Amino acid sequence: MISVRRLRPDDERKDFRSGNIELDRFFLRYAGQNQFRHHIGTTYVAVEEGAIFGFATVAASELTSARIAAAARKRLPAYPIPVLRLARLAVDVRAQGWGVGLLLLRAVFALAYKMADEVGCLGVVVDAKPEAVEFYRKLGFVELDVVAGLLGDRPQPVAMFIELGAVERA
Ligand SMILES: CC(C)(COP(=O)(O)OP(=O)(O)OC[C@H]1O[C@@H](n2cnc3c(N)ncnc32)[C@H](O)[C@@H]1OP(=O)(O)O)[C@@H](O)C(=O)NCCC(=O)NCCS
Repeated sequence: MISVRRLRPDDERKDFRSGNIELDRFFLRYAGQNQFRHHIGTTYVAVEEGAIFGFATVAASELTSARIAAAARKRLPAYPIPVLRLARLAVDVRAQGWGVGLLLLRAVFALAYKMADEVGCLGVVVDAKPEAVEFYRKLGFVELDVVAGLLGDRPQPVAMFIELGAVERA
């Protein structure tokens, strides 16, 4: 059975292939040092018998309340709001469609609840790749209001957010 745990220094990361070379390179070169040396982000891996099928990297972050939908914004103070950022998410091509992405997201939501209890957290934010927007939408993520001036010609990541209250309803 596949389970989710924190990345360990001796985890074998070089065989992981998600189909996205930047995500694979991040996992191989930076996930470890970000977690073990710099402490700026923690990676969780979906593993079974030592084989890694997917990973999710998270970090504490904040969101200006201006970017949150008007209805929710009314109940919030104007200063930046603490959130958990899903910085990277990838599943090995051999395991895509098995529910590993969902399993990792559940672990991320559990972390966000823990963060809410212990230090404060409104929800989870992600910069979704255009091809992954529907994956997040199905889980209840909504698009954040766009900050003017950020739109260009290249396909941009779509900033998406889910409040912890909406996780319960999903
Ligand atoms: C996107 C990704 C993380 C999804 O993980 P996964 O393990 O394949 O997804 P799951 O098997 O957990 O799927 C859960 C649900 O989402 C759906 N889904 C999966 N990928 C999807 C996509 N790209 N678009 C729309 N729906 C998607 C599944 O059909 C399933 O829906 P169902 O429960 O109604 O059947 C994975 O395909 C991946 O790593 N892709 C390449 C890298 C990438 O795009 N990462 C996202 C960076 S923001």
